[in-house]
Amino acid sequence: MYKSIIRPVLFCLSAETIHHIVATILRFARAIGLLPLLRSIFSYKHPSLEREVFGVKFPNPVGLAAGFDKNGDLYREMSALGFGFVEVGTVTPKPQPGNPKPRIFRLRKDNALINRMGFPNKGLENMVRNLRKRKGNMVIGVNLGKNTLTTNEEAPADYLKLFRSLYEYADYFVVNVSCPNVKDITKLQNPDNLNAILEGLFEFRRGQNHYRPILLKISPDLSFQHIDSIIQILIDTPLDGLVATNTTTSREGLTTDSQTVEKIGNGGLSGAPITNRAVEVISYIHKKTEGRYPIIGVGGIMTPEDAQRMLEAGASLVQLYTGFIYEGPAFAKKICKRLKQTEEPEKQN
Ligand SMILES: Cc1cc2nc3c(=O)[nH]c(=O)nc-3n(C[C@H](O)[C@H](O)[C@H](O)COP(=O)(O)O)c2cc1C
Repeated sequence: MYKSIIRPVLFCLSAETIHHIVATILRFARAIGLLPLLRSIFSYKHPSLEREVFGVKFPNPVGLAAGFDKNGDLYREMSALGFGFVEVGTVTPKPQPGNPKPRIFRLRKDNALINRMGFPNKGLENMVRNLRKRKGNMVIGVNLGKNTLTTNEEAPADYLKLFRSLYEYADYFVVNVSCPNVKDITKLQNPDNLNAILEGLFEFRRGQNHYRPILLKISPDLSFQHIDSIIQILIDTPLDGLVATNTTTSREGLTTDSQTVEKIGNGGLSGAPITNRAVEVISYIHKKTEGRYPIIGVGGIMTPEDAQRMLEAGASLVQLYTGFIYEGPAFAKKICKRLKQTEEPEKQN
């Protein structure tokens, strides 16, 4: 029903307008007490789906990727839609408006999106207020970014400020230096810059009573040589794992005509065109590290089989964003059901 009736109506409006309408409907549903009903329709629970990764227990391995719940005010609703965890953010220390609109574009023929949001969000204080209200055992990660006006030299202070203030409110943290829509931020993926950011976080964590895992989100556009240098950081430091991958600046292999694509302009491409590259990156890291470090696999999960492929390539957990837009609210459940089916026969063997 979603693809034949609801999606064609939703896709008549701009992607960002729809996002706000859907978010408002979901918040209203929560306000009038409908989340248990949504949960009973869209969630799928089974012991074989439970995972323990970097010391955190997940009810299922299918998460909502960063960027959908930028301000941490939708995690309860998205959890009711069957996601085993929600990564909120990217949050920056100060609120910022992001890039001018329009900044999300659908490439329907490719089952893809191009976005150049540029971290619009209401800032750290608002995120703290929202995550303080968290109840129950929902798993929440926070994705951290720097403000657009913060230079790369000043970036470590932004990440540290966020990490300190949010430390007690999240189950894990992701350092995001791979967004193609914030000028020069991807340069922070160079080892020296990365170490400068991460060292501050490790030092703060060493002084805390509770351990919070720190992951690094990487771009699918890194060369294998560059990925090797990041693997070296995994080996040399207490970094807990990687999130692979963010969106790509590549426009290779699209069916949408090149004029339309050119007219859209800059931005990160997500969805079906990046599945193979995301799986390739995950598989490369998994093999090189002999599976010693957890990887959250993300990028182009548009079918339950894509999620399965990513897990088989070495991901411990998966996340999605674009697949939710194209496949609708029952997508997390559909993936969970499929994963359960494929696990059962394995267990019988
Ligand atoms: C509209 C949009 C906004 C996004 N915003 C963020 C963000 O703020 N932080 C981040 O780390 N990733 C962000 N992403 C990237 C996703 O988290 C994900 O890594 C990427 O889209 C690939 O997954 P997908 O193909 O399932 O969408 C965004 C993606 C989209 C489509």
